[in-house]
Amino acid sequence: MRKVPLTTVTPLTKREESTSERKQPGLILAIETSCDDTAVSVVHGSEVLSNVISSQDIHNLYGGVVPELASREHMKAISPITQTALFEAGVRVQDIDAIAVTTAPGLPGSLIVGTHFARGLAFRHQKPLINIDHIEAHMYSGYLENPSLPFPCVCLVVSGGHTSLFLVESFAKYTVLGRTKDDAAGEAFDKVAKMLGLGYPGGPHIDRLAAEGNAKAHMFPRGLIHESGYDFSFSGLKTSVRYYLQRIRDEGGTVNISDIAASVQRAIVDVLVTKTMRAAEAVNASAICIAGGVSANSELRRTMQERCAAVNTTFVAPRVDYSVDNAAMIGFLAGHKFRAL
Ligand code: KG4
Ligand code: ZN
Repeated sequence: MRKVPLTTVTPLTKREESTSERKQPGLILAIETSCDDTAVSVVHGSEVLSNVISSQDIHNLYGGVVPELASREHMKAISPITQTALFEAGVRVQDIDAIAVTTAPGLPGSLIVGTHFARGLAFRHQKPLINIDHIEAHMYSGYLENPSLPFPCVCLVVSGGHTSLFLVESFAKYTVLGRTKDDAAGEAFDKVAKMLGLGYPGGPHIDRLAAEGNAKAHMFPRGLIHESGYDFSFSGLKTSVRYYLQRIRDEGGTVNISDIAASVQRAIVDVLVTKTMRAAEAVNASAICIAGGVSANSELRRTMQERCAAVNTTFVAPRVDYSVDNAAMIGFLAGHKFRAL
């Protein structure tokens, strides 16, 4: 993945100089603007020819994504990022076989920028347009680098907006096993980080601080961990941290931020891992996959790896640039849909 500041975007003339005559079946130009990343990728099967992303750092100032700002930033970035993705892939838009775009779920104002841009491009160049569900793309992202990963696979999609468990039986068939009843796990990381005065997004800050903290310092709630079924709940954890911090401040005590980070991370990881392993056993899964921004969490990866090794189940976590929001996963899934047309 290349993070491209808008100031270094390739000028149009460079793109036009691209001399590639490549014309491959299933060459997909994929566009993703569901939240605060403008991402464009060119994908051929499981070969990612370019994966360009422009992250909107402006939201860091506000401690969370501001929808109106997000759509304005997408409008500025979408065209130059698309040019860069085509240039880096060495193809022209005429070489593309289909255009794919994320249509849901996401921030309406953000989605509309990507979908209208994609529609315009498809119309102008007379290319088929493939609509892709963002969560479905996360779900299959483990197959991007591991095309022979077996089915059935239990996939945990865990991000700032979503926490869901899926039973994935093929590229055409999957079932929702459970989802969060309130906050997403990434939201819990972000909100706790905000309470601790850390930056946004909070997950990476908690991950880093937790490495120096004691995960047993606080026993924060593990929502629904003992319930049968595969739904999640993280709002109680967030409230518990808020009450704890309030009490310590009222008493004039000092807070060990690293211990809180480690304990919160341990509570979230415990729930995610317990539910995922339980689901995998119940459906007799051949593999387990985690995806979405929170799947970058080092403790989650380490614990899942350990637990899967203990029961001899294949475990896959996509590399970080395919775990966070990206367009390569959109193009990969669109390629499957395109070939099935
Ligand atoms: O998938 P993503 O890039 O965007 C969507 O929400 O769809 O996920 C972003 C989320 C944020 O909540 C961020 O704090 C979390 O992923 N995240 C992490 C880590 N890296 C990103 N959470 C925990 N540990 C991390 N290392
Ligand atoms: Zn996402």
